[in-house]
Amino acid sequence: MRDIHTIVILTGAGISAESGLATFRGPDGLWEGHRVEDVCTPEALARDRATVLRFYDARRAALATVQPNAAHRALARLDRDWPGTLLIVTQNVDDLHERAGARRLIHIHGELLSSLCQSCGGRASFAGTLLDDPACPACGRTAALRPDIVFFGEIPYRMDEIEAALTQADLFVSIGTSGAVYPAAGFVRLASAAGAHTLELNLEPSAGSALFDEVDYGPATQSVPAWVDTLLSTPG
Ligand code: APR
Repeated sequence: MRDIHTIVILTGAGISAESGLATFRGPDGLWEGHRVEDVCTPEALARDRATVLRFYDARRAALATVQPNAAHRALARLDRDWPGTLLIVTQNVDDLHERAGARRLIHIHGELLSSLCQSCGGRASFAGTLLDDPACPACGRTAALRPDIVFFGEIPYRMDEIEAALTQADLFVSIGTSGAVYPAAGFVRLASAAGAHTLELNLEPSAGSALFDEVDYGPATQSVPAWVDTLLSTPG
C-alpha cells in the first residue's frame, strides 16, 4: 500500500446506530416505518406536506436525546490529529459527527438542523418545528421552509468537492452503510480507480463489499476506534 496522505471516509446510518438512531434498511429501520415515497421525495412534499414535515420534525427533535458514540469520537480524533488531507463525507443528516468534534465534514444528503426555503432557496440553521410554518429568515415568506434534506431524485450536495477528494485519495474507508444508494455507493469505485486502498467497516457485508480491498465486520464503536488507533500509531 502506498504512503497515506489523503483519506476520504464515507459514513452511513450504521455509525449512528449505537447512539440510538434508527438505520434505514434494518429490521427497525426508518423506512420500515414509512414508505420512502411517503416521506422522502419532492412529490411527497407536494402531496402531503404535513406528513413529510412531521416525519423530519420528529427526527430533528430526537437529536436532543442522543449522543455521539465512540465511533464518532474516533473519527473526530483522526480529523484533529491527521496531518494530511482528510474528508468525512456523511450520508447521515444527524449532527453527531459535529458534536463529537469533526470539522472536515460534508453532509451529502443535507442536515436535520438546517432549513431550505422553497421560495428564495435560502438555507439556514434550524432547530425548531417546520410544522409551525416559521418564516424564512432570508426572505420572510411563511409556509415556504422545507427540510434541508436531499430527497430521492434530487441532487446530492457538494459532489464536485467529494469527487475531487476521491480522485486524490490514498485511502478510502466506508463505515456503516449498506451501499444501497448512489452516488455514495459508487465512491469505492472512484477511489479504487485513483489507486486508493479501500476498507469497509460495517456490521455485515454491504452490497459493495466485493469492491473493497479490505473488510472488517463488527459494531462501529469497536471497529472504528481500533482502526483509528492503528492508523495514528503507524509511523510514516
Ligand atoms: N456498526 C456498524 N454498522 C452498522 C451498525 C453498527 N452498530 N448497525 C448497522 N450497521 C450497518 C448495517 O449493516 C447497514 O449495512 O449500517 C448499514 C446501514 O444501512 P442503511 O440503513 O441502508 O443506511 P445507509 O447506508 O446510510 O443509507 C444510505 O439511503 O435512505 C437513504 O438518504 C438515506 O442516507 C441514507 C441512504
